Amino acid sequence: MSSLSNQAPVEETTVFPSLSRGSGRATILITHVDEHYRQLYSDLLRSEGFQTFCANDCDQALAVLHRERIDLALVDIVMPKTDGMMLCRELKNDPDTRLVPILLLTDWKSEQGFVMEVENGADAYVKQPVTNVELLTRVRALLDKKRFTDNLGDAEKVLFTLLEIVEAKNPYTAGHGYRVSRAAVSLAIQIGLSSGEREWVRLGAYLHDIGYVGIPDDILMKLGPLTAEEKTVLNSHTYLGERICASLYPFLPILQIIRGHHERLDGSGYPDGLRGSQISTLTRVVSLADVYDSLKTRQPYRGRFSHAQAMHQIRREAEQGWWDLTLFDALARIDSPESVTGIRDALRDGG
Ligand SMILES: [Fe+2]
Repeated sequence: MSSLSNQAPVEETTVFPSLSRGSGRATILITHVDEHYRQLYSDLLRSEGFQTFCANDCDQALAVLHRERIDLALVDIVMPKTDGMMLCRELKNDPDTRLVPILLLTDWKSEQGFVMEVENGADAYVKQPVTNVELLTRVRALLDKKRFTDNLGDAEKVLFTLLEIVEAKNPYTAGHGYRVSRAAVSLAIQIGLSSGEREWVRLGAYLHDIGYVGIPDDILMKLGPLTAEEKTVLNSHTYLGERICASLYPFLPILQIIRGHHERLDGSGYPDGLRGSQISTLTRVVSLADVYDSLKTRQPYRGRFSHAQAMHQIRREAEQGWWDLTLFDALARIDSPESVTGIRDALRDGG
């Protein structure tokens, strides 16, 4: 078997239909340094009706991923030149491959495997040697997830385009959703949210201001102070955003984030004046990332805050009861020299 091979088609019986093409078989990329294991996993998966591609390093894996529509990537943590964790990060940072689930093949103990998974964006991991049953169970679970995210991907593109149009109307909001999303995911990783929760945080953060699409331009683009009436209209972007996304079934889990991203723990926020535990962790994460990015962005009425100034301001607001102090501590840790490079970079990009 060559190190990079497109396996010949197998029997017509389809155990798992292709998620990407609507017909044929689900496609799985196996990236493993050891040819014996590549062959072993490939034979097992093909015997179950999947189509497989194989690569022995990061470069070959990326070449396949950009050439083929891959439904799932099996990634060995040990690879020549680089490692499986770097490939995970590459895939999750690339818009074209971000939704491809990753099953990390590791030799680490379970706790270390979990940390590696969380920090590098893998969706799950198995410890090698793995039994056939365990591998197939994991593969099928992740392909179920891929089926879901494929549906999500189409709706997401429409909403992202809508958001870009709205953000482009005002120079002070351009790119805000993207930056908040990056910072919120970094924070979610820091506090150990699951990969599923991180995905909702990412999407909720990106779309949190989608309701601006329903706000009149003269209010949205006004540079001077708003009247009380205008503020009321502007604040309605919270529930307008919820309404826009409520019609799209895959977005149900992020509605609370969009509606609640201006709530405060002491009940002084809007639109519902929620307090404490009424505000979910996912919403708190996005709120804090939103505040952080807003402070770091130049506004019509003030200049851009430095990181230190922004953190000082957020701490004051957290101490007066607006934000979650635990999350503030996590936000501060993200920018510390001890933090994981990828997380620190992600936040820096978001700032
Ligand atoms: Fe907002």
